[in-house]
Amino acid sequence: MKTLLITGGAGFIGSNFAHYWIQNHPEDRIINLDALTYAGNLENLAGIEESETYRFVHGDICDATLIEKLFTEEKIDHVVHFAAESHVDRSITGPEAFIKTNVHGTFNLLETARKTWANDANCRFLHVSTDEVYGSLGDNDPAFTETTPFAPNSPYSASKASSDHLVRAYFHTYNLPVLTTNCSNNYGPYQFPEKLIPLVFINALEGKPLPIYGDGQYIRDWLHVEDHCRGIDAVLQQGRLGETYNIGGCNEWANIDIVKLICKRLDELRPGNNPKAELITYVTDRPGHDRRYAINAGKIMTELGWSPQYTFETGIEHTLNWYLENQGWWERIRDGEYRKYIKQQYQDLK
Ligand code: NAD
Ligand code: TYD
Repeated sequence: MKTLLITGGAGFIGSNFAHYWIQNHPEDRIINLDALTYAGNLENLAGIEESETYRFVHGDICDATLIEKLFTEEKIDHVVHFAAESHVDRSITGPEAFIKTNVHGTFNLLETARKTWANDANCRFLHVSTDEVYGSLGDNDPAFTETTPFAPNSPYSASKASSDHLVRAYFHTYNLPVLTTNCSNNYGPYQFPEKLIPLVFINALEGKPLPIYGDGQYIRDWLHVEDHCRGIDAVLQQGRLGETYNIGGCNEWANIDIVKLICKRLDELRPGNNPKAELITYVTDRPGHDRRYAINAGKIMTELGWSPQYTFETGIEHTLNWYLENQGWWERIRDGEYRKYIKQQYQDLK
């Protein structure tokens, strides 16, 4: 039986992971530590909060006293570290929070694990990171592998790259039992509607403009969040200590094509007077926008036998249905600080 500390477990991927873990490993205990920033939402955890093996702690990963207390009192032996500031656009307008949480917060967790675990062979620290640390690819470049040099271009990716380096250093210097995953863009239930797929979906449903940055030909490699959770499970249980594993769906799409796909499917599911694609609006590009990301997931596939179970079509269908069935979830988000953010971020659309 393990005792897992999940950090950032009230956010998009962390909450999906908490649901996944309770379903697949009911014997383990979960301590979910989350600061409940704008991106954290306790509604994402409905259904598991009553579980006897689960405890939610409202707190900040930068709070060293709290982290030490949790490690000792709860006898944490596994950490799955999701907590982060995660949105590139917000990192451009306000980078400081990214440095605090993503760099200093990760340092704090590593330091506590180092002091508390004292070479206990049963412990594991899995750091959840992103493909954005590798920078941007040209159209004909090969996909990122685990040995692609880091070249982060946004304050977000630079802060994640810093944290990845710290994790690596704690392995080499202190022999801390760490693992790192670098995953491509996720989509699925509970994704905060500042990210492309839920933003476009909600705007299309409501007849609002669908903002496309630049020429819309930017490419991302999309993975359903449940496939990411399965990948993290595989790495946590079978990964080689000190190694990094890329996780991705071999599923590259230009932004404009995703938006058109969502519009087409919504026209079928919720027909209106006009095709939803008429709402597509090209807006000012994101500064320093990375052109293309693509993941080579060969290592996790061959070493650990992982592969994605969703195709993009089945994953998008599952996701659109979830957002249609959980309208209350996103309507409650939209009523809060979100309104101010959207007004500020999309000034072209006023
Ligand atoms: P998210 O923004 O939806 O959730 C982040 C969570 O962390 C929120 O619940 C927030 O309240 C919490 N948090 C923020 N600062 C904190 C702090 N100081 N202390 C404690 N909790 C804090 O993010 P996400 O999309 O779920 O991403 C989770 C992790 O996965 C991040 O580390 C991100 O870099 C990584 N990742 C994300 C993607 C993606 O497509 N979303 C892809 C690859 C990797
Ligand atoms: P996003 O979901 O913010 O993820 P990331 O920047 O981490 O890849 O954006 C995905 C892609 O969609 C990215 O190329 C930026 C683009 N995008 C838009 O064109 N319009 C938008 O309103 C948003 C939020 C993103």
